[in-house]
Amino acid sequence: MSNPKDSVKQTLIVAAALCLVCSVLVSGAAVLLKPTQDYNRALDRKRNILQAAGLMQSDGDIDTLFKQIEPRVVDLEKGTFVETVDAAAYDQRKASRDPKLSTGLTVDQDIAGIKRRADQASVYLVRDAAGGIQKIILPVHGYGLWSTMYGFLALDGDARTVVGFKFYQQGETPGLGGEIANPEWQAQWVGKRVLDADGRPAIQLVKGGVDPASADAVHQVDALSGATLTSNGVANLLQFWLGANGFGPFLASVREQQGGSNNG
Ligand SMILES: Cc1cc2nc3c(=O)[nH]c(=O)nc-3n(C[C@H](O)[C@H](O)[C@H](O)COP(=O)(O)O)c2cc1C
Repeated sequence: MSNPKDSVKQTLIVAAALCLVCSVLVSGAAVLLKPTQDYNRALDRKRNILQAAGLMQSDGDIDTLFKQIEPRVVDLEKGTFVETVDAAAYDQRKASRDPKLSTGLTVDQDIAGIKRRADQASVYLVRDAAGGIQKIILPVHGYGLWSTMYGFLALDGDARTVVGFKFYQQGETPGLGGEIANPEWQAQWVGKRVLDADGRPAIQLVKGGVDPASADAVHQVDALSGATLTSNGVANLLQFWLGANGFGPFLASVREQQGGSNNG
């Protein structure tokens, strides 16, 4: 007589029970780990913002250092702060996928290759002792050759001079377009003026290297050699985010409030 434990029915019951136990374990782990994953994602974002702003210290606690930063949300069209949204929790990437919270861009407008733009954007401010704006950190993104490149551009309180630029997520080729993540390449942005005398985006990536004696050198950065298409993507995304459909109206209003003129 065969052992009843070897029957087809028994085998199926054991297999089903095993599947059930494993699926409970996997989904339980996913639910339990989600808060940790969310916290680490938020911590990584804070680290990138601090690095762009030049405020990261290797031995510093990120949450403590981030207390210097004031997250805000801006209405991109009006260039004004939005007071009704919790800036710390606002998810601009999610908003840019929601047709009710974003605007589709025409081919002419979409120089950064992003298709849609959230109507409200995150900005991060660093205040001086008197409460004035000392630094403005802007999230920017746009298409390179293979990927959408995400970065933070930190400007001085004059809303035109770069204090830091960091790409933290991109999928360009390592050693070619991927060099946008190289701290040495990113360092040459410091001190560059991203807007011209009329407040229009004016940054150029120069193939073959910038001539420091050129009158335009303050608006120019070395393009990446062998990666002109990625370099063009960087120039285009800055053109977009600093322009009229990006942070242009907000930056103009900051300059106005700071009492500065548009003369560059
Ligand atoms: C496998 C492979 C990967 C490449 N990756 C990139 C890249 O990430 N970014 C880029 O701009 N060009 C990349 N290129 C080169 C482009 O096709 C193009 O030749 C280059 O952007 C032109 O730049 P240049 O005028 O500075 O040589 C890659 C080419 C190959 C064959």
